[in-house]
Amino acid sequence: MSGSKVSGSVNFTEENGETTSLPLVSGSVGPQVIDIRKLYAQTGHFTYDPGFTSTASCDSAITYIDGDEGVLMHRGYKIEELASESDFMDVCYLLLKGELPNAEEKDKFTHDITYHTMVHEQLIQLFRGFRRDAHPMAIMVGVVGALSAFYHDSTDITDAHQRMVASYRLIAKMPTIAAMAYKYSVGQPFIYPKNDLSYAENFLHMTFSVPAENYKMSPTIARAMDRIFILHADHEQNASTSTVRLAGSSGANPFACIAAGIACLWGPAHGGANEAVLAMLEEIGTVDRVQEFIAKAKDKSDPFRLMGFGHRVYKNYDPRAKVMAETCHEVLEELGMKDEPMLKLAMELERIALEDEYFIEKKLFPNVDFYSGIILKALGFPTSMFTVLFAVARTVGWVAQWNEMMEDPGQKIGRPRQLYTGPAERPFVPLNKR
Ligand code: SDX
Repeated sequence: MSGSKVSGSVNFTEENGETTSLPLVSGSVGPQVIDIRKLYAQTGHFTYDPGFTSTASCDSAITYIDGDEGVLMHRGYKIEELASESDFMDVCYLLLKGELPNAEEKDKFTHDITYHTMVHEQLIQLFRGFRRDAHPMAIMVGVVGALSAFYHDSTDITDAHQRMVASYRLIAKMPTIAAMAYKYSVGQPFIYPKNDLSYAENFLHMTFSVPAENYKMSPTIARAMDRIFILHADHEQNASTSTVRLAGSSGANPFACIAAGIACLWGPAHGGANEAVLAMLEEIGTVDRVQEFIAKAKDKSDPFRLMGFGHRVYKNYDPRAKVMAETCHEVLEELGMKDEPMLKLAMELERIALEDEYFIEKKLFPNVDFYSGIILKALGFPTSMFTVLFAVARTVGWVAQWNEMMEDPGQKIGRPRQLYTGPAERPFVPLNKR
């Protein structure tokens, strides 16, 4: 485990008097870990932690979150500073290579990504196989997984150069594929990328331009899009990133691993929450029904949860939500929509939730998804595209974490154990006796 050191030990004694000592390991910042890799060999016991609430699955130098303090850093830089001072290409370079690029490095990286934005023309036939009303996330899972059938020259995971080519291709082509998924769903022709546009501008162009007329690019909107990409870029070992790492640990090719990450992100408890936030706001409808839904969220017998609130790690305000809230107001101001009823409803829901004893006691704050849905709706994206945009942004985090795992000399296939609670051994019962 590079960058870590043994800083002590933890001893525990079982009822039979046997004592086991396990190393206590420190990273650069944050909680120490108890290294339990030898626990089963020493004690015959497994640990038990469904959902991995207290389990570190790896060591990583990419992103650090302090949920109690509401801190998110990428390679040591706070997300608030990255969101205000840098752009998405800076952040992609930082996540992939560990340092912010200088001007020359940034120009070359941006050029290399830009010149990989087109997809193989044959890929268009793949879209034809979907119904027009297919959910865009279903298309993303299928098409991204299929990239491994098109780019054989970057699927050798043992070759560092091929791993980086595949990483660049994925970062570059996700916006193109996402825009194609949108165009296919609305029956409009696919729009090719343009090399004289920035990453965010290109995505807006490919999504909203038509052959008859180019999208009227607003610098404020393009900047907001770029910032949304930054805020969603990486988030340490969340469910979809852990899925990418687990898939990659078997030696699967990077396109298949990212397709697995997209599938996991689709869930409403994870990346699908931004779409679910809009559906929830539409169901609430008016401010006078907010209390009814707050009561449902608190009712243990009701499976309803307040979408866009709560987080496995943040027990303080999600720092991304703060920046997203500012961006939300900028976009709605630019578009003359600041009296947008959905925003007013969202603001009232946030105010009431933050004052409610249940939410205060359980430390349930608005998360990154709470505001992103409102911004994306204002920008003209259908709700079905919200999680697709999350996947576009998170691809750089997924590939950065995948590369980090592949470069780890200690990397091995992930294979959790279990607590078995099924029947003990019993004799087979022939059919005529059942
Ligand atoms: C993302 O992991 C990441 O980093 C994810 C992400 C990223 O960038 O990759 O940040 C993106 O996925 C953000 C989260 C988006 N999901 C939602 O907004 C969906 C709504 N939120 C919940 O489903 C929930 O908060 C989770 C899934 C996000 C977290 O679930 P946990 O870990 O089970 O929540 P918890 O253990 O902290 O819950 C503590 C208590 C529980 O009640 P008790 O069992 O203690 O009585 O709070 C309750 C929960 O039932 N609770 C909620 C709630 N979230 C948690 N009650 C009502 N509404 C909610 N939203």
